[in-house]
Amino acid sequence: MYSLCNWLTRDCPKTERRMKSDFNEAISTLSEVVQNRPKPIREFDQIFMKNEDMVKQAAFLAQQFSGLKVVFVGDGDSMALAVLHLWKRGLLPEGPAHLHVLDFDERIVKAINRFAEARGYRKYIAAELYNVAEPLPRRLIGRAEAFYTNPPWGASNGGESVIAFVQRGMEALNSHGLAAVVVANDPAIRWTQQVLQRAQRALLGDGFVITELGGERRHYHIDDNPNLQSCTIVAKRLRSRPTGITSRKLDRESFRNFYGRNRHLNFKYVLERNGSSGGRGAAQEYELKPF
Ligand SMILES: C[S@@+](CC[C@H](N)C(=O)[O-])C[C@H]1O[C@@H](n2cnc3c(N)ncnc32)[C@H](O)[C@@H]1O
Repeated sequence: MYSLCNWLTRDCPKTERRMKSDFNEAISTLSEVVQNRPKPIREFDQIFMKNEDMVKQAAFLAQQFSGLKVVFVGDGDSMALAVLHLWKRGLLPEGPAHLHVLDFDERIVKAINRFAEARGYRKYIAAELYNVAEPLPRRLIGRAEAFYTNPPWGASNGGESVIAFVQRGMEALNSHGLAAVVVANDPAIRWTQQVLQRAQRALLGDGFVITELGGERRHYHIDDNPNLQSCTIVAKRLRSRPTGITSRKLDRESFRNFYGRNRHLNFKYVLERNGSSGGRGAAQEYELKPF
């Protein structure tokens, strides 16, 4: 366990062999989370991070979120479960106080809750059906100590979809909360830099200071752009949240090209169809519920 963390912080007093074995154990433990995920739907930008990078990202987040109540705005990767499971299995030395996952895909929500139930993690994690186009439920506003989002990356809408997810995260946070936002980052691809800048502006405008651009790049299973990588913007809210903040519906204009060119935000939920038990082996039928 220690060597996995030291490896991640680039401080490696133990042997390389030991580090490799801890990392392999983490990958093997992660596979239980990965197996539990429903099949991704490409039209909604459900694109999974590669497993090795998921372990590194989970370790990075476990440090950032240690002891905190965290809201995840969308979580197709199952990053919340990855952090929790690796921690509870002794592969990470620290973990969050509580994780609350919001996602518009009922297959994802139910898969997380089933996994949590089966492993005795209910007091640490809960998942709930929610679409970012809708106002954030009142009971969630200003309560969280941190938020995490890996949103649709906004290649064809100037980052509007990133801002929609970040906005909900910012609404969920308390006065001194922490933000961790995953965006595409390739200096050679102009739209990624424009969206990165827009996301940073949104955070700065809401009183955050950007403390880190999550060092390492992460890779994904993207057929049409396998080299596209992401980084994690880490930011901390400096000024107190204004009181009486309300959450408003997303403007219809923002629905356009939400998931890429001509892939608009047309559906409120992806519903699990037959109450199947989820996971890779199970029936994967779903039905789309329009707004
Ligand atoms: C868009 S994907 C981004 C790629 C990321 N690697 C992933 O799959 O988690 C992130 C999550 O957002 C969810 N999502 C997509 N549109 C949403 C919406 N309008 N409201 C809430 N969640 C949404 C997806 O179901 C997915 O789980």
